[in-house]
Amino acid sequence: MKILLFGAMGQLGTELQTALSPLGEVAGFDIHNLNLENTDQVRDTIRTVHPDVIVNASAYTAVDLAETEAEKALYVNRDIPALFAEEAAKVDAFVIHYSTDYVFDGMKGSPYLETDRPNPLGVYGSSKLAGEEATRAGKANHLILRTAWVYSRNRNSFVTKVLEWARKQEVLKVVDDQVSNPTWARTLSEVTAQLLNKGFDCLIERQGLYHVAGTGYGSRLDWAKKILELDLNKHEQIVREILPALTSDFPTPAQRPLFSALDCSLFQSTFDIPLPKWEHALRTAMTE
Ligand SMILES: NC(=O)c1ccc[n+]([C@@H]2O[C@H](COP(=O)([O-])OP(=O)(O)OC[C@H]3O[C@@H](n4cnc5c(N)ncnc54)[C@H](OP(=O)(O)O)[C@@H]3O)[C@@H](O)[C@H]2O)c1
Repeated sequence: MKILLFGAMGQLGTELQTALSPLGEVAGFDIHNLNLENTDQVRDTIRTVHPDVIVNASAYTAVDLAETEAEKALYVNRDIPALFAEEAAKVDAFVIHYSTDYVFDGMKGSPYLETDRPNPLGVYGSSKLAGEEATRAGKANHLILRTAWVYSRNRNSFVTKVLEWARKQEVLKVVDDQVSNPTWARTLSEVTAQLLNKGFDCLIERQGLYHVAGTGYGSRLDWAKKILELDLNKHEQIVREILPALTSDFPTPAQRPLFSALDCSLFQSTFDIPLPKWEHALRTAMTE
């Protein structure tokens, strides 16, 4: 299988390089060898590689900066997926695209289903929703995997930040009114490999939008506490207290949904791929 991977140096992309390599030849691209703003080069790359599948882990993910860089966010998160879908159809490649829980406004009060109406609160969420629509509108066979609160130990993430704060601050304040599903990038990459192992007939038959994230949900405070509890080098922590805070205590340019947890049961029953509980995945991630 020929796999063309974009965003290969991101949190998810790095993990995908490893998880997908047993499946065939992975051609990985990131901003260092192919800036997606160079549309001609993107088209040439797809035509030259002539992949069986395009896995798009690239994204503009700076949620706050997106508020002032809307054009850039829309280009990477909407126009690029549109281009991938268009070019994939020409070479008959399958597209795997990732999206976000931030397409929702967080007002539902229980985990979101694929059938729930999106209503993004900020530019990042709107641009990702537009990317979903562009992928759907294209003529390529595709899967859109909406995920949430992605972390990795190898890139800057909430997990690496909490570990760092705990070594510098005696008191941590973490919001407990933002709730979603922490998702280890490794889990998502392994799930993607499992999907591709099912074969394209299966994927084409079941193509569409699915929620794929760590099972269960928690607040940022729950998540931070768990990270510190599972920290293998606890003796390095100087933190004495971890206190709940409100999102409104830390004003940010972008408004975030408060309860954006995803219900992933449709994905698990459709593909018979179990998703680990977020705490279990975190336990494994913390042993690295
Ligand atoms: N992170 C989360 O909490 C989260 C939550 C829900 C959904 N998601 C979705 O999950 C997917 C993977 O996210 P992630 O956390 O792995 O993101 P990430 O770490 O930010 O990776 C995205 C990659 O895309 C690259 N990229 C951005 N603009 C580019 C351009 N113009 N040309 C070439 N490459 C470019 C980035 O390069 P640079 O770093 O050099 O800019 C980065 O390597 C995305 O679709 C994201 O929307 C993420």
